Amino acid sequence: MAARKIIIDCDPGQDDAVALFLAMSSPDELDILGLTTVAGNVPLALTERNARMMCDIVGRTDMPVFSGCDKPLRCEPITAEYIHGETGIDGVDAFEPETPLREQHAVDFIIDTLLAAGESAVTLVPTGPMTNIAAALQKAPEVLPHIDQIVLMGGAMREGGNRTPSAEFNILVDPHAADTVFRCGRPIVAMGLDVTHKVLSTRERVKSIAALGNPVAEATAGMLSFFDRYDTEKYGSEGAPLHDPCTIAYLLMPELFKLKHCNVAVETESALTMGHTAVDFWHVTDRPHNAHWAWDIDAAGFYELLTDRLARYQASNTQGNRGIR
Ligand code: RIB
Ligand code: CA
Repeated sequence: MAARKIIIDCDPGQDDAVALFLAMSSPDELDILGLTTVAGNVPLALTERNARMMCDIVGRTDMPVFSGCDKPLRCEPITAEYIHGETGIDGVDAFEPETPLREQHAVDFIIDTLLAAGESAVTLVPTGPMTNIAAALQKAPEVLPHIDQIVLMGGAMREGGNRTPSAEFNILVDPHAADTVFRCGRPIVAMGLDVTHKVLSTRERVKSIAALGNPVAEATAGMLSFFDRYDTEKYGSEGAPLHDPCTIAYLLMPELFKLKHCNVAVETESALTMGHTAVDFWHVTDRPHNAHWAWDIDAAGFYELLTDRLARYQASNTQGNRGIR
């Protein structure tokens, strides 16, 4: 079966970085057309640099990486250095990557790539605020039929918010963008906190990853060891939720997840509940079923997949020429 063409739109962020490692470990299944970056966890200048760093660590300095929107469509920017550290990927030492930043704006790359592809040819995988995706849909709505599906990390139902009592970070940062995406009419799979809070990077799991003995696994273990401190303190859980890799895991092994087709609507008016995702799980309204909401996950199976795929990276890699076996 031909590899699925995808564009990952991200705001690295340690968990975005692990999602990139997982995606790049699986070229037979995922044909990554490009990485587009957006302001989110940290400002755009860092998210784009961090995405390029991850390509260096994996040895994919050929990966097309683009810089996108540096602020939400309408709201003032919000960042999350208190979770991700000042670099956005604390846990690995930052360096100036060899992977180049492409000239073209990320939004134009998304538009041009979709238009050049066939009907339902490309899957979009946003793992940060959805500003780039929404901007592309608003600028060129003719791209819609070229989108196969949108597999996103964002939102919360039973879990409540992680940045406000009502809202998950990615949706809160740009609720208007999220609203545009959820209303776009293309198939959506939504990985909210209800599943991502079930995949905790416990010490045992991080130890197994560290024991793989290759630079990509080492970087993953380093980042997860930093990334877990905030959530461990906040939730009293052992380990941080690995939010963004859930999107890639779904593309590689959908059977790990339980989904419900229902309506997801985004609050874009109320100051109190801005960015809330109203998930009509029990179909109590007649709103259109616009998303497949992920409500359960096989956490052990998720970490087995992640560990197996990270093990593919060569132990002997040195920076700039890593690759999978
Ligand atoms: O709420 C978690 C999400 O916000 C993740 O995508 C994390 O990287 C941050 O972007
Ligand atoms: Ca993210």
